[in-house]
Amino acid sequence: MTNTSQSLFERGMKVLVEGVSSASRGPATFGGAPRYMSHGQGARLYDVDGREYIDWMMAFGALPLGHAHPAIVETVSREIARGSHFATALEVEVEVAEILVGLLPHVEKVRFANTGTEACMAAFRLARGHTGRRKIIKFEGHYHGWWDAVLLNTNPVPATMFGHPNDPIRITDSSGIPPEAQADTIVARWNDFDALERVMAQHGPQAACVVTEGVMSNMGVIPPRPGYLQRMQDLARAHGALFYLDETVTGFRLAAGGCAELYGLSPDIVTYGKALGGGLPMAMIGGRDEIMSGLEWGKVLHFGTHNAGRLALHVTKTMLTTMLADNQAGFRRIGDLGQKMAEEMRRVARASNRHDIVVQGVNSMFQVFFTDLDAIHDYRDFCTRVDRAKFRDFALRLMDKGVYMNPSATLHSLSSLVHTEEDIAATGRAMAAVLDEMP
Ligand SMILES: Cc1ncc(COP(=O)(O)O)c(C=O)c1O
Repeated sequence: MTNTSQSLFERGMKVLVEGVSSASRGPATFGGAPRYMSHGQGARLYDVDGREYIDWMMAFGALPLGHAHPAIVETVSREIARGSHFATALEVEVEVAEILVGLLPHVEKVRFANTGTEACMAAFRLARGHTGRRKIIKFEGHYHGWWDAVLLNTNPVPATMFGHPNDPIRITDSSGIPPEAQADTIVARWNDFDALERVMAQHGPQAACVVTEGVMSNMGVIPPRPGYLQRMQDLARAHGALFYLDETVTGFRLAAGGCAELYGLSPDIVTYGKALGGGLPMAMIGGRDEIMSGLEWGKVLHFGTHNAGRLALHVTKTMLTTMLADNQAGFRRIGDLGQKMAEEMRRVARASNRHDIVVQGVNSMFQVFFTDLDAIHDYRDFCTRVDRAKFRDFALRLMDKGVYMNPSATLHSLSSLVHTEEDIAATGRAMAAVLDEMP
């Protein structure tokens, strides 16, 4: 721990809940004082004591161009001088929507929001409004923001609380949620074809939507089994439910077209956030016109003073232009770097041979699991066979060696356009030293 971080934490604890504004940044995740950061440059974060870190968290995926990218600095400096926010119709709003509709074959219309949670809330309401149905089918371990209706089975729990895989026990993740808010939410096991067939046969005819993360991103990184998401899409359609792909993490990250492109899907509704804003708050709901038109004139209501903020839209445009240049070279580059980092971690783990480690990754996302399994396929594997305390120890020791990964095993690491092969090698060296010193 750095001295200034410790004293800031002590001050912060007196005036901020947990000393921070989201649990993943504070003592719940760090076990004590977090590192307070003063600035970022490229792939580096600098703490308040001047220590430098290779940043593999990248603001939970919000920074495909890294910190203080010159194009983004130029965009914000230019645009802030012309006014911060108007809450009026904007030319840049049309321009960014045109880029997005041109890029995403399953999207004919978009609606901008600020955060993933807001976009997801509007998408669920739209699915219910469009179909006239109430049920939402979601999966164990999937997170779609902190809205009441879907805030269940998103945290790791002991195996005794799972329930039968055919009928998972519904576990509310927060106090303050009335049971009726979740009465129409069905929870199913993910990555399991039988469970999918069963839940769709039972609830599909009343379901407004089936919602899934494309790659599980809130239990480390867990890819879908081959054909699983396609089957989900087919079954949703067969039952008249919307297939809702939540690409808040994976959109503009795993490929220009996210998981939809990667796995050949054509979701009815899709939400994006994080990477889309290039570091500013920007999210969106997209889909076919026939569905999206449900939002017209507040038929299905979605309002917001800060929707389509002009600074965030300009940065989004800069991020997209940069990543899409040269036939989407930016997306290929971050994917390549992410996979190289994952491979280097596997190599270091094998060479050390002191701990059971699996590294899972898809393109620019990866996570280290301390586990005796060969692979983690779902929430139940994660909860029962991943040593989360050991991962926290690993991440905190890495931090002491100048490598920043979030200490929560449920999260993941990410590459950006400004990481380099030298960052990968340096991270590999730090990891080798950490694995040697860990008990
Ligand atoms: C898949 C998914 N959906 C929605 C959200 C909510 O996004 P936000 O944190 O921007 O509200 C998250 C956040 O991690 C997420 O991982």
